[in-house]
Amino acid sequence: AASSHSTAATYDFMVVSNRLPVDRCAPGESGDDGSGWRRSPGGLVTALAPMMTKTDGAWVGWHGAPDETVEPFSHGGMDLVPVQLSNDDVELYYEGFSNATLWPLYHDVIAPPEFHRTWWDAYRRVNQRFADAVVRHAGQGATVWVQDYQLQLVPRLLRQARPDLRIGFFNHIPFPPPEIFAQLPWRQAIIDGLMGADLVGFQRPSDAGNFMRSARRFLGASVKQQQVHVKGKYGEITHIARAQAFPISIDVAQISELAHNPEIIERARQIRQDLGNPKTILLGVDRLDYTKGIRHRLKAFEELLNEGKLTVGDATLIQVASPSRERVEQYRLLREEIEGTVGHINGTYDTIQNTAVRYLHHSYPVEEMVALYLAADVMLVTALRDGMNLVAKEYVTARKDNDGALVLSEFAGAADQLKQALLMNPHDIDGLKDTIMRAVDLPPKDAARRMRSMRKQILEHDVDHWSADFLAALNEKVVRDDS
Ligand code: G6P
Repeated sequence: AASSHSTAATYDFMVVSNRLPVDRCAPGESGDDGSGWRRSPGGLVTALAPMMTKTDGAWVGWHGAPDETVEPFSHGGMDLVPVQLSNDDVELYYEGFSNATLWPLYHDVIAPPEFHRTWWDAYRRVNQRFADAVVRHAGQGATVWVQDYQLQLVPRLLRQARPDLRIGFFNHIPFPPPEIFAQLPWRQAIIDGLMGADLVGFQRPSDAGNFMRSARRFLGASVKQQQVHVKGKYGEITHIARAQAFPISIDVAQISELAHNPEIIERARQIRQDLGNPKTILLGVDRLDYTKGIRHRLKAFEELLNEGKLTVGDATLIQVASPSRERVEQYRLLREEIEGTVGHINGTYDTIQNTAVRYLHHSYPVEEMVALYLAADVMLVTALRDGMNLVAKEYVTARKDNDGALVLSEFAGAADQLKQALLMNPHDIDGLKDTIMRAVDLPPKDAARRMRSMRKQILEHDVDHWSADFLAALNEKVVRDDS
């Protein structure tokens, strides 16, 4: 229910993200409600959808189809404001600057980031377009919450055009240390863009710390506790932003409910049976991304087979790798490498009856994911760097009987909350192998103790808490001039 000002509807709460929280959907496809759209999976939408309908809100984002104009529309009670991207924008802003410059730079340069001025120009142009859409639709004094690394210039652009707005930003991925961030030719503009916000949120305290150190180094800001003071031409304080960690979580109720659903429990049994009821099912679930450490995981698994510590028939690894960013070169290379490795492992160790690695280059609905979580004895989250990793939290939430083991990389944000996981460094292949074997042989009592304590943590901190905490902090933020 938005009020109409001349032509454009205005709202008092707006969320801005690169993608709208809906996908195109063909008639008859799962999730089809006849509108041609279905709600995207994931906790962010679940957390924010109720707020959208309660507070006269709207979501601004790209609808996913290049070169196509879509007028504002409503879906599932949410007002959606589509932003158009041309084919060039997709190539230069999305695949280029967002996913071949910022993504690798922010994930410890696991892949080499590329710096191109044409990509940067497109990033600025598209960020301006997102900001314009917000300005057109934001009511006086509205709260605007900008999401993630694709839109880091939007806070500053909004503040310039609309000083009346309350502006929050949340970075879902890591923020790199200044020693790495320094490589970016446009480092100052990015920090300045973020500093347009009243509150800048991060996954881990270390990410917030990295951001504050970069603000000091590249913008000459002064930092007191978590307040970042930006100075004007004459050294006067022009703006204060607050930087703080707000670890994101999942829709706990949804995952628990599915984990108790008899059809899904039956499906989990079926999956085990289809694999020949091996003693141990290990599971990896990732977007096919070089940050996820899938190669390290496969290497460790192969060596364990080679040494006879695991045998095919006793142990099977299910690796779900959902297709992602397939036109970006590093992703194409990674896919070839992973598929070559899987082919090599299976060619060497499979029998007519059993497979070593069941590799699935698909994405699945959440029901099937929960069935896989229930079927898996050992969950492998071996990311080399990950903002949070929600798969780890979903697995723990699904394990309602307090059994199963989570092998978790210390480089995933989730390690801050899931301290009872079997934590390891995925670069240390011997350490990874030892941890996998510990997980396979984990005494049930030890497993239950760990799982119980991890479940408690997540059940008390679901994604509703995350968004409520962030928005409360954004509302409370007081600009203090006690410098
Ligand atoms: C990560 C990012 C999100 C992004 C998602 C999927 O989780 O933090 O911003 O939407 O990956 O990637 P994609 O490029 O398909 O949007």
